[in-house]
Amino acid sequence: MMNAVLLKLSRSPRAQRLVTDLGFVRRAARRFVAGETLEEAVRAVERLNAAGFEATLDFLGENTTSAAEAAACTDEYLRLLERIRRDGLRSHVSLKVTQFGLDVDEGLCLQNLRRIVERVREQGSFVRLDMEGSAYTDRTLRIFERLRDGYEGVGLVLQACLYRTAGDLERLLHRPVNVRLCKGAYREPPSVAYPRKRDVDAGYLRLAERLLRGAAQGRAYAALATHDARIQRWARLYARRHQVSGERFEFQMLYGVRRDLQRRLVREGFRVRIYVSYGTHWYPYFMRRLAERPANVLFVLRNLLR
Ligand code: FDA
Repeated sequence: MMNAVLLKLSRSPRAQRLVTDLGFVRRAARRFVAGETLEEAVRAVERLNAAGFEATLDFLGENTTSAAEAAACTDEYLRLLERIRRDGLRSHVSLKVTQFGLDVDEGLCLQNLRRIVERVREQGSFVRLDMEGSAYTDRTLRIFERLRDGYEGVGLVLQACLYRTAGDLERLLHRPVNVRLCKGAYREPPSVAYPRKRDVDAGYLRLAERLLRGAAQGRAYAALATHDARIQRWARLYARRHQVSGERFEFQMLYGVRRDLQRRLVREGFRVRIYVSYGTHWYPYFMRRLAERPANVLFVLRNLLR
């Protein structure tokens, strides 16, 4: 219930206007967001790299409504890639296709993304397309296919909550593919997604097994994005039992979430990549983090009392 309300609020421009100027909300958001500027994000990645983590940097933004905004976002990603190269950061980039103008025009979006992929290719690096709400799944998959025809260092995300995902994964595995598997952070109707969390969790395990099997056969790279300690334990055992090389899979977690698990996996020798977001457009991202764990609302309120 609370989860649904928070996800609804995450899409409300009115709620956004109301809360983003509140000091205690901004302070609370800093737990999940590295900062508002590129400099702050770079500092965060340097700290993570020094502690043994890989990173993926995300410039916050989604559902861009004009070509000019989409171009500005493209320029920011080009700056970001240049900083990663210059400072020798161990970081990829992650992005949302709607940031690049998908709601304006798919051709324009593809054109902007090609500029990013071209730069990523020059740097021999990697870019991942995040997955947004189910209204964008087909278009994101289509754009992904077009982009990876030019360069293999492009990956995407699949969401265990959607009924369609097992079929999408099977199709993608026809070619070597790099998939981040997550549960899904968006509000979806029961016509397209499992309404019960335990079904999403069970689906995640089935998909993770399929993906790790693909990884063991050299047909996939598996990025298991979850803070679910039970699933992580299962994946560690599965990888050991089925000899999935540590070069073929990694764990991914969000900046500021379950740092205890993050550190433990690194200590055990696994590759762990932290998703580091920055920028001023943090509201929807922050609200999705609250929705994932409504107890986080108490954390926001504690910031009010501080
Ligand atoms: P689950 O929700 O079952 O949580 C398991 C445990 O993790 C909780 O009991 C709690 O301890 C902890 N936890 C989880 N979320 C927390 C939070 N916000 N604050 C504090 N503790 C928390 N989604 C999407 O739709 N598209 C995408 O592209 C991505 N990308 C992505 C990248 C990475 C690196 C991660 C880790 C996640 C995503 N997600 C995403 C989000 C994902 O779909 C999902 O909403 C969250 O990861 C929460 O689900 P868990 O798998 O962590 O498990």
